[in-house]
Amino acid sequence: MMKTWVVANQKGGVGKTTTVVSLAALLASRGKRVLVVDTDPHGSLSAYFGVNPDESPRSVYSLFQGADVNLHTLLQDTHVEGVSLLPATTALASLDRQLGAQKGKGMVLARALATLNHELDYVLIDCPPTLGILMVNALAAADYLVIPVQTEFLALNGLDRMKRTLAMIEHSRGGALPHLIVPTLFDKRTRASRQTLEILQARYGAALWELVIPIDTQLRDASRNGDPLPLVAPTARGSLAYSALLDTLLEAQNLPKPPYTAGAPTTEINAHV
Ligand SMILES: Nc1ncnc2c1ncn2[C@@H]1O[C@H](COP(=O)(O)OP(=O)(O)OP(=O)(O)O)[C@@H](O)[C@H]1O
Ligand SMILES: [Mg+2]
Repeated sequence: MMKTWVVANQKGGVGKTTTVVSLAALLASRGKRVLVVDTDPHGSLSAYFGVNPDESPRSVYSLFQGADVNLHTLLQDTHVEGVSLLPATTALASLDRQLGAQKGKGMVLARALATLNHELDYVLIDCPPTLGILMVNALAAADYLVIPVQTEFLALNGLDRMKRTLAMIEHSRGGALPHLIVPTLFDKRTRASRQTLEILQARYGAALWELVIPIDTQLRDASRNGDPLPLVAPTARGSLAYSALLDTLLEAQNLPKPPYTAGAPTTEINAHV
């Protein structure tokens, strides 16, 4: 059974796209067939995989244009073996205005993805940092939600907004959407990082991942080069942290852990918390 994980937070620059890229690369390196979906009009995820969002005629946008678009015709292979891409396009920015309050547009992505059920193991959806029709579509397709939160004070407001959105989505789904809040860009040398983590722990308890994604400049460098860090530097701090996160996500959903083909034991990152 294909699993769909959505990475979302109504705050920009918290590590959403980095999380999608890293988890996708790790799953693929463990032999899984992965599709990454870019629903952000800025198209950072698409750009990561070499697709220019200004010139992508086949994209998520196409799904909203006609009723009978074959999703297969929109997918692209990437340079990462095992990972294919459904790109974004800048035109996605006008979708909310175009469709307005039109009913029945909340399940477009979920319905399209369901047609890939037998061909894929995982779908990872990257979201824009704004609540709109695209985030609603992503959340409607989700089996599991990952909420990256930057460990700085201002990020807490964004998390409150995200939790309200989640409550709204759960209401319309008629059930809980399992999720995990993931502290990101953690810098143990700064008070702000440490204090924000304490507040998160006090407020969100069991919904909060017990580890963190540390600041690792190699993650930034890797994104500039378009190479997922876990593939080029499996023992970098950032790679180990994402590997540990993947293990937690698989455990939380009772999914079998595919064997590691790269990387090292992940226990040492505990030292950073
Ligand atoms: N753990 C990390 N350590 C260092 N740099 C990071 C880390 N995670 C992300 N970055 C860098 O921070 C920037 C923002 O990350 P990213 O694009 O993943 O965030 P985002 O939430 O997707 O942003 P947006 O809301 O704009 O889509 C990028 O330059 C990325 O390379
Ligand atoms: Mg992004």
